[in-house]
Amino acid sequence: MDFENILIEQKDYLAKVVINRPKKLNALNKATIEELHSAFQKLEEDASVKVILLTGSGEKAFVAGADISEFAHFSVDEGSKLAAKGQELLFNFVENLETPVIALVNGFALGGGLELAMSCHFRIASDNARMGLPETSLGVIPGYGGTQRLPLLIGKGKAMELIMTAGMINAEEAKEYGLVNYVVSQEELTSLGEKIASKIIRNSSVAIGKAIKAVNSGFKEGVNGYESEIKEFGDCFATNDFKEGTTAFLEKRKPNFPNN
Ligand code: COA
Repeated sequence: MDFENILIEQKDYLAKVVINRPKKLNALNKATIEELHSAFQKLEEDASVKVILLTGSGEKAFVAGADISEFAHFSVDEGSKLAAKGQELLFNFVENLETPVIALVNGFALGGGLELAMSCHFRIASDNARMGLPETSLGVIPGYGGTQRLPLLIGKGKAMELIMTAGMINAEEAKEYGLVNYVVSQEELTSLGEKIASKIIRNSSVAIGKAIKAVNSGFKEGVNGYESEIKEFGDCFATNDFKEGTTAFLEKRKPNFPNN
């Protein structure tokens, strides 16, 4: 995979995707969104990838937002298309992947950057991270799912305040709010991501994919999460992973999942 704006490292069932525009604090321009889409698509299809870590290059930013220089002159129609295309190609796409994606928030995660981190299945931050949705300070609102995902993660009142004030919270506040699961030093961020990934990798990828679907169902308009859980649960019984997991338990040995 050859990209201009992102880097990908792969080893031992783990892929690390690094957004690599450090001079622009990894701001998401159109090209980067398209590259991320095709990278995530390929990694999802790659059976040797069981967890994806997503981070920003440099020590300052995860992603400082959508690239303001690209949309400053947009019309109503272009603005709507920007949000719709971005949500389709990246934000909803990442959320609905069956391969777990963990955001390693290594610095500023603002606007589209926080929206991207929130699209990931969960988040870990370094202690220098700063998070917020500053769009109203630019005369616009979050358009990559921020008005929907932030209230789900931290509650409506706190989300309203963050959006209205266009303020930033630090990593400890983000942990207190439930926006990130852990806060560690920048040096420890990748190793904690890898440690958690190694625990996920031991389990059935097929079951994890179905669990992601069932959890996400509860947050989708017109979808009954409990019904989705019943369907995904039932489907597990047709998988070789289920056979292996239950057989290994009964034989008192560790499972060796075929991942199908
Ligand atoms: N879009 C485009 N370019 C961006 C950007 C964004 N969202 N965020 C940062 N950059 C660029 C800056 O324009 C600057 O480029 P330049 O060196 O060519 O002038 C470079 O990244 C470094 O940013 P700078 O502002 O000089 O760094 P700083 O340390 O002084 O401030 C921030 C850091 C994150 C507070 C500041 O960059 C910022 O407020 N960014 C915009 C955040 C935002 O509103 N995001 C939501 C967008 S919808």
